[in-house]
Amino acid sequence: MRRRWWVFVPAVAAVSLCFSQTAGRVLPGSPLPGITPREMELFRMGLEDFTEVETPEDGLGPAFNGNSCAVCHSVPVIGGISSMTEIRAGYRDENGKFTALNGGTLYHLFSIPNHLCQVKIPPEANVVARRAPIPVFGAGLVEAIPDETLAALEDPDDRDGDGISGRAARVFDVATSRERIGRFGWKSQQATLLAFSGDAYRNEMGITNDLFPDEVALGVDPENMRLCSPGRGLQDVRDRRTGMRGIDNFENFMRFLAPIERAPLDDESRAGELLFQAIGCASCHVPVLQTGENSNPLFDRKPVPLYADLLLHDVGTGDGIEQAAASAEEIRTPALWGLRFRRPLLHDGSAPTVEKAILRHGNEAEAARQQYEALAPEQRKQLLAFLNSL
Ligand code: HEC
Ligand code: HEC
Repeated sequence: MRRRWWVFVPAVAAVSLCFSQTAGRVLPGSPLPGITPREMELFRMGLEDFTEVETPEDGLGPAFNGNSCAVCHSVPVIGGISSMTEIRAGYRDENGKFTALNGGTLYHLFSIPNHLCQVKIPPEANVVARRAPIPVFGAGLVEAIPDETLAALEDPDDRDGDGISGRAARVFDVATSRERIGRFGWKSQQATLLAFSGDAYRNEMGITNDLFPDEVALGVDPENMRLCSPGRGLQDVRDRRTGMRGIDNFENFMRFLAPIERAPLDDESRAGELLFQAIGCASCHVPVLQTGENSNPLFDRKPVPLYADLLLHDVGTGDGIEQAAASAEEIRTPALWGLRFRRPLLHDGSAPTVEKAILRHGNEAEAARQQYEALAPEQRKQLLAFLNSL
């Protein structure tokens, strides 16, 4: 991959300024405290590639959603979100059976100027859904949570009778060629950061790689596809200087990126935290999970205060798209750490405020939402103060 220093150096410089840790607090965009000098080097190389703007000569397209990871992951700093949404579509028959038209559900927003390569949502599509970006702060800790921990949380048949029946997403992980429990993406569609990197490089940017070797541009027939993307082999090649592929760099950046720290608590938010537990929010937004044994001390049996069980639930907001292990109705419980930096909310970005997101909870979360609605105004204020401290 060719590097264009003048494009990404200013962004990297701006982020580097934030690496410093002031008064013991880890600023957004910093690496995990305690990383080794070698890990810091991998993190910096990863950050460079994450912010690098790709062109058609690098393999961008023929169809794509953005020309760098950072275009969609940059608020409040690189690794975060943006207000764009992307589009998934498909067909649902009268019996509710879902079919992905043309073999996939992601319809790209842009294509390299050439009328042959333009992606079209087919006229038969009757489900069109939007997906908002998810921040990657703390992703290495999330990746290090053992599958068994997530499997132990699931209760698909609601045996405990609390109305909540989360399901672990059993997916095939292309990075390890094993069945794993998915935890990344709104549908928990990927289990590892390397697999998500390969998925995003091909699906968001049209850059083929070892894990996702084929171009996709839905609705473009194979003949036109060949004309749009003349066969030149895989586009994500190993950098001769560093020995790294793009997907390795993305993995390293996300793995070593620290989670967003909580704002200091006051009496109001402390009271809100107790309410969060008391009214059942914590049944799905589990406050803390733990990483397993790990040869790297950064990830060895560490608490992960993410406020999510990472399981698939039907809370009445399903987007109608079946994907990986998730049904049309299911969405993964999103982590709430870093919530104060995130707007709009929900998988489709349809909730402008935290309160509007809470009021959209139904089905498995019906009881929790009703309890929220029954709170006294003072208590609601406390709960929202707690959520805004995350
Ligand atoms: C066009 C916007 C866009 C671009 C470009 C983009 N992403 Fe994303 N990212 C998203 C969206 C939207 C989601 C949620 C997707 C979903 O679940 O359907 C997401 C989710 C993710 C997640 C899941 C995080 C979690 O905790 O669940 C990771 C990891 C990720 N992106 C990494 C990357 C990497 C690496 C790149 C560059 C190769 C990249 N993204 C490029 C929009 C983008
Ligand atoms: C049955 C599991 C479940 C329960 C109980 C639950 N949630 Fe959620 N929550 C979810 C899921 C799943 C989503 C994602 C829905 C979507 O995006 O369509 C979500 C989304 C959210 C979001 C938006 C986060 C984002 O990044 O978009 C907030 C805020 C939230 N929940 C707070 C709460 C609060 C407060 C309670 C208690 C009143 C609660 N939740 C109870 C599963 C649950």
